[in-house]
Amino acid sequence: MGKVYYVSKNVGLGMLVLAAIALATIIALSIAYDKERAKNQGKPGGGTDGTSTSTPPTTDFLPKEPWDRYRLPDSLVPFSYNVTLWPRLEPNTDGLYIFTGQSTAVFKCVKQTDLIIIHSSKLNLTTFQGHHAKLHGLNGATAPAIQKSWLVEKTEYLVLQLHSSLAVGATYVLHTEFRGELADDLEGLYRSEYTENGVNKVVATSQMQATFARKTFPCFDEPAMKAVFIVTLIHGRATVALSNGREMGSTDSVMDGVNVKVTTFEPTKRMSTYLLAFIVSDFDSIQSNQNNNLLIRIWARKKAIDDKQGDYALNVTGPILQFYEHYYNATYPLSKSDQVALPDFNAGAMENWGLVTYRETALLYDPVLSSTGNKERVTTVISHELAHMWFGNLVTLQWWNDLWLNEGFASYVEYLGADYAEPTWNMKDQIILNDVNKVFAIDALASSHPLSRREEEVNTPAQISEMFNTISYSKGAAVLRMLSEFLTEPVFSKGLSSYLNTFAFGNTVYTDLWDHLQRAVESTPHIRIPETVHNIMNRWTLQMGFPVVTVDTQTGTVTQKHFLLDPDSVVERPSQFNYTWFVPIKWMKSGVEQQQYWLLHKTGQDWVLLNTNVSGYFRVNYDLQNWNRLLSLLNTNHRGLSVINRAQIIDDAFNLARAKIISTTLALRTTKYLSKERDYMPWESALRNLDYYVLMFDRTEVYGALQAYLRKQIQPLFEHFKTITDNWTKVPTGHTDQYNQINAIGMACNMGVESCRELIQSLYKQWMQNPDHNPIQSNLKSTVYCSAVAFGGVEEWEFAWAMFKKATLASEASRLRYLDYTLDPTKIRKQDATSTIQNIARNVVGMPLAWNFVRARWSYIFQQYGQGSFSFSSLVSSITRRFSTEFELQELKKFKEDNLDVGFGSATLALEQAIEKTTANIKWLTENKADVLKWFNEEAT
Ligand SMILES: *[C@@H]1O[C@H](CO)[C@@H](O)[C@H](O)[C@H]1NC(C)=O
Ligand SMILES: *[C@@H]1O[C@H](CO)[C@@H](O)[C@H](O)[C@H]1NC(C)=O
Ligand SMILES: *[C@@H]1O[C@H](CO)[C@@H](O)[C@H](O)[C@H]1NC(C)=O
Ligand SMILES: *[C@@H]1O[C@H](CO)[C@@H](O)[C@H](O)[C@H]1NC(C)=O
Ligand SMILES: *[C@@H]1O[C@H](CO)[C@@H](O)[C@H](O)[C@H]1NC(C)=O
Ligand SMILES: [Zn+2]
Repeated sequence: MGKVYYVSKNVGLGMLVLAAIALATIIALSIAYDKERAKNQGKPGGGTDGTSTSTPPTTDFLPKEPWDRYRLPDSLVPFSYNVTLWPRLEPNTDGLYIFTGQSTAVFKCVKQTDLIIIHSSKLNLTTFQGHHAKLHGLNGATAPAIQKSWLVEKTEYLVLQLHSSLAVGATYVLHTEFRGELADDLEGLYRSEYTENGVNKVVATSQMQATFARKTFPCFDEPAMKAVFIVTLIHGRATVALSNGREMGSTDSVMDGVNVKVTTFEPTKRMSTYLLAFIVSDFDSIQSNQNNNLLIRIWARKKAIDDKQGDYALNVTGPILQFYEHYYNATYPLSKSDQVALPDFNAGAMENWGLVTYRETALLYDPVLSSTGNKERVTTVISHELAHMWFGNLVTLQWWNDLWLNEGFASYVEYLGADYAEPTWNMKDQIILNDVNKVFAIDALASSHPLSRREEEVNTPAQISEMFNTISYSKGAAVLRMLSEFLTEPVFSKGLSSYLNTFAFGNTVYTDLWDHLQRAVESTPHIRIPETVHNIMNRWTLQMGFPVVTVDTQTGTVTQKHFLLDPDSVVERPSQFNYTWFVPIKWMKSGVEQQQYWLLHKTGQDWVLLNTNVSGYFRVNYDLQNWNRLLSLLNTNHRGLSVINRAQIIDDAFNLARAKIISTTLALRTTKYLSKERDYMPWESALRNLDYYVLMFDRTEVYGALQAYLRKQIQPLFEHFKTITDNWTKVPTGHTDQYNQINAIGMACNMGVESCRELIQSLYKQWMQNPDHNPIQSNLKSTVYCSAVAFGGVEEWEFAWAMFKKATLASEASRLRYLDYTLDPTKIRKQDATSTIQNIARNVVGMPLAWNFVRARWSYIFQQYGQGSFSFSSLVSSITRRFSTEFELQELKKFKEDNLDVGFGSATLALEQAIEKTTANIKWLTENKADVLKWFNEEAT
């Protein structure tokens, strides 16, 4: 699945939202809450508890009955399904949207059993002579009679008790007919609505990962239960039906007195249930038939296709698929690849095999209106999803505990695919900011967890959904990148290709990949690693965290230590490796790259820099002399180091200071050279680290001095962009320069650079005077809108609202989104609800409002959005980011106690992390406030 981005990349530090807007939004949300609660009262299951997600882990004991266990027994193995679905895009006489369907599951009995246990959730099954299914034998086998059948809500099963056992080796057919609700819950087969030309349109679409195929038809809903799916969709004559396979035929028919079309699809390859997809819509498409009859299509709302918003996606999809065919040395196994933009979608995108689904903002790009950030997002999300077509879809991990390998892998190679499609963008560098540094921050906590979990630890849907976290995506990406770097890319891809070809259409565990990489190492001359791939990687995947490598250039010693952001925190999780790692070190001495070592020698008076291009997943510390040499290099000739390493020195220093390994003032000194820095990565790294200072101090007296210092540092960058853009009339040519221009303006305005304020106000005024001609460049819109509304008054605000109502492009609407919610709570799309609260929490005034709202309404929010919603943990972490007082810590602990009965589902870990982070923040403030104030005061002048 694609990552969910809550804050667009080009919204830099401290997005400003008017307090009034935040307040109004909270009120709007509260109204939505009350309405929803009224609707649910008196409905069974409409209460606030009794949800299965709060069930404690079932690892401690094994339930007696097989249907009480969350994992399927291993007695039956599916072979194929024949599924027919008919989603109704109009409500029935009860005002309910429904779908009906029938399915036959062909399966083989491989272990003697008189039980059939198959997943089924929230489906009303038709009964045949009192039973929920019909059973037949195939190829001469006789099926035993059904004794009784029942549904188990908690474990989401249909259970059939048979009169006698099934015969081992025999094949049977289970037939079911069912009816389900086509709800707007973004899970399973669901309903998405949008308005076009004033007409309300309904789309039926699906999201099966991780456990929602069972909500669409009864199936053995585990990733290793691969089967062939023969799909038929029944739909209105004016709509088009899509599924994983290519359409084979469509015939007009009449069913239940309704004119319909019956569309059949080419049978799928052997695949997992979570990769199925079904869509019925009146979307339009564009296509290219590029090579070997592979059909590539982009689907979206008619208007979006007319406006050419799908063109960019179509331009890059073909090349990216070709890149992967080459990289994996394996042809794309299907005959078509559809990409569909959906108005309502929970994740960023989903890699359904042959029918990839996206949020509109992750697929549509308007050449005139969208920003560079929007474009980059389209490229990387497509690249991420297409990477899964092989790694994940063709070869699938056995169980969700290994999710990190699937998601980590796609999160790494997405940069390679994107770099191929857009070679001038330096995409391969971006992984450092987007993944490596991001996950360093989380993995440095004592409450982090290893990448790999044991299979028994992951059972319930909530535990599965908790696996979709930053550690899986970003640490997975970081350690796989490190592996590829120390093996070298040719060896890595050789092992990879052999892994994919060996296990095609099957399932694996992560050690299978290590085995194939090890073979690639052994069959390649001149590659030497000190231990097997297995032994090296175990240290990175089976224990949490990462090391800080300290080099003393005086003595030549190199040591490693588990890096913890809070040095006083207690690591309760034992590690069989004692928190030591095999660390591959690439390094340079006085500007000269040295041979990769797994150990290092004495270096004398030269400056040394370890972890060139951050190819290893670790932080670096030096003796003070070497730090001073590096800082003086930055001040005199910063281009002597790569942009990645300039960014990394800053990031390492700030984090080492947080961990009290070096002083806070040494970290702040890494920002002094920034008045000369013009490149994006070091600035972005500095701004992100300084963001912590803003969060900790924007409610204190230190803030004035901080602003004064940063104003001084940012001013030259602001002037630089003014010059190279010919007084803000041109777009900078470099891809990352465009990002850095956004940083420069956002930061300069936040820090009170007067000319920045004048620029913003004049741009916005021009637009207000001539609303049909927006003079603000796409890249700068978010920043300008936010600042202009923040600086302005009612008039500016109302103008923004009027413009929002006219915005049809998804990315344009989301820039102005808050305003929507303030006025019309019924318009909160479920996919956006948590991100709206988060955006409010980013603001210093909005934060307490968001916190109070979430505290007071936890059980409601949890019930509405918590189950299976992947954004829940980031909701908790973003609201608590500023927490730094004893009072807030107590509130947080009380929140945890008060809601133990409701549970926290996929936010469980995030809450623990929030408590730990708040504790660390309190300590940090106590210890650093005086020094920081003094330093900023001295340096500001
Ligand atoms: C699948 O089911 C449909 C509807 O029941 C039926 O018409 C079709 O023949 C079946 N296809 C196969 C291959 O069994
Ligand atoms: C399923 O059955 C329940 C109980 O009879 C009913 O309330 C619900 O509306 C039915 N669902 C559908 C989609 O028909
Ligand atoms: C797509 O590619 C064509 C041909 O190279 C080019 O003219 C067009 O501008 C591209 N469209 C977008 C949106 O990048
Ligand atoms: C690519 O695959 C082919 C056939 O599977 C194999 O013979 C060849 O060695 C592979 N090439 C690489 C570079 O792995
Ligand atoms: C971890 O430390 C223990 C006790 O010091 C030692 O016996 C063991 O060999 C160490 N394990 C590793 C993998 O270094
Ligand atoms: Zn993914």
